[in-house]
Amino acid sequence: MYNQIYNNNYNPNRNKNRPNGKKYVQTKLNFGQKPLDNYEDDPTLLDYNFGNIMLSQNELNVSDELKTHLHYIRIPYYENNNPEKLNEKKYNIIKEALTKFPIRNCNAFQYALLKYHTELSENDNSLLNNLRLYEKRYSDEAKYFFIEILPFIIEQALKLPEYLTKPIPLLGKYMNIAITFNKLQVISLLANQFLCIFTEENNKLYHTPECSFLGIFSTPKSTVDSSVEKIRSVVHYFDKMRKRSIDSLKSELLTFQRVSLKEKSLPDWINSSMNICNVIIDKGRNIEECENMLQVDFANSYLGGGVLRTGCVQEEIRFVITPELFVSMIFTQKLDNLETAFIIGAERVSKFKGYGRSFKFNGDHNDCYIKYDKWNRKSTEIVALDATHYSPSLKKYIQFSTKETIREMNKLYVGFKNNELSNLSEGSYIATGNWGCGAYNGDLELKAMLQVLVASITEKNICYCPFDKVEFADRLGVVVHSLKTHNVTTDLLYKLIRSYNTEVIFKHVNHNSPPKISLFDYILGTLQYN
Ligand code: AR6
Repeated sequence: MYNQIYNNNYNPNRNKNRPNGKKYVQTKLNFGQKPLDNYEDDPTLLDYNFGNIMLSQNELNVSDELKTHLHYIRIPYYENNNPEKLNEKKYNIIKEALTKFPIRNCNAFQYALLKYHTELSENDNSLLNNLRLYEKRYSDEAKYFFIEILPFIIEQALKLPEYLTKPIPLLGKYMNIAITFNKLQVISLLANQFLCIFTEENNKLYHTPECSFLGIFSTPKSTVDSSVEKIRSVVHYFDKMRKRSIDSLKSELLTFQRVSLKEKSLPDWINSSMNICNVIIDKGRNIEECENMLQVDFANSYLGGGVLRTGCVQEEIRFVITPELFVSMIFTQKLDNLETAFIIGAERVSKFKGYGRSFKFNGDHNDCYIKYDKWNRKSTEIVALDATHYSPSLKKYIQFSTKETIREMNKLYVGFKNNELSNLSEGSYIATGNWGCGAYNGDLELKAMLQVLVASITEKNICYCPFDKVEFADRLGVVVHSLKTHNVTTDLLYKLIRSYNTEVIFKHVNHNSPPKISLFDYILGTLQYN
């Protein structure tokens, strides 16, 4: 029943007949309470719109009103039915396992892990196989890790009850909510993930991503080189933080925000007439290098995608080089179509080379040139946008249909429109690129046009980082130039996309062959004769 509750599609009219048309469920769900059978009574599914909560400097702080409607994330060593009460017995088992003897190698770590994960088998050959490979391949680095860094990770993980004076709310479906942590809290949460203290319990209960590092440390079939490199980057993060003063870590903040829109607040795409925005094609930079811009994470609806497994493309790499992003996986429920997540203030700590299987940690990256905002957050702003995943077959041409293009435009709109918690000024640039066109098989030309269209409607500009698609980017430059010189507005551009679908895709793809001309050629051709 519980799964059904969460699988219900969003119905904006659901509250229509309710008293006052809005929130009336006042139940506070505690941990361990049985899920409600009737989804109408499930508080997380209501259309709450409390606005954003800016939180106090040093602690997680949620208004009392909001508290009554929230689920809270269960920290594994807290009481099942009281998110604010430490379960001393469970906590002490973990504490003893991690502190009784010094952990100087993988064997000792596995020994400790098995004390608080009794469900794991000591005979499982794959348990910690990637961590063992790290120990073997980078023996000096690993020795330094076990002696110097792991004690810091353990110390910080065990300080969570001291650092977190309030329970963490779930960034749940249809909520507009932001939580702000200080960096010390983030380190402690990440340390709990790294030590595999978080379990799968929350993912199952709340549809949040898996957040324990067990998936990086161990892969069932054989070891994975990129997992070893992921471990190196996260270890580097802890090493860097270990050398900072506690006071500075306490004073630096990070915001994790979920934004949900209602259908009625979306633009009328066919009738919205705006000039085409500026598009810079930046062949020299990746998205993560674009300062003072909103940086797009080519996301999975479960934040982080495969980062804690074997995935290693744009989103996963972004998380690995900016490990504070991992923390979002603890409390962000699967994103729905009209939802996005922003993360403001995360620090990048690593350089990398390669991509996918060839990905490698490539030493320290210093973010010192990134300014702090008035809340003492790094001014790096990331927006997670999950594109639609298409099959690589001819079926992918379905993506040109009206239904599909509207889904993608709505998603982009939630991410591109003004965000109250952002520091970016009007007309700022969005650093993006081949969104949805790698693992998700989107059409580069279509996705680029949709991004330009939505940026124009939201009065933003685009900085397009082509990554490996340099030739394509040159063609994009030509098309944007042509749209601008012909004074094409967004409504016209959208009509061009729709007529490409009916005139080209419908006619050709239905006959089992790819389209004869591409969207760009169609647009250029149409403009030339008008
Ligand atoms: N900067 C700019 N462009 C990049 C960068 C970068 N740092 N890295 C890659 N690209 P992909 P998707 C380009 O496949 O198709 C993940 O598992 C490069 O050309 O990551 O939206 C998520 O968790 C690449 O082919 O995004 C989702 O599950 C293209 O961007 C899923 O993949 C697309 O990158 C999302 O897949």
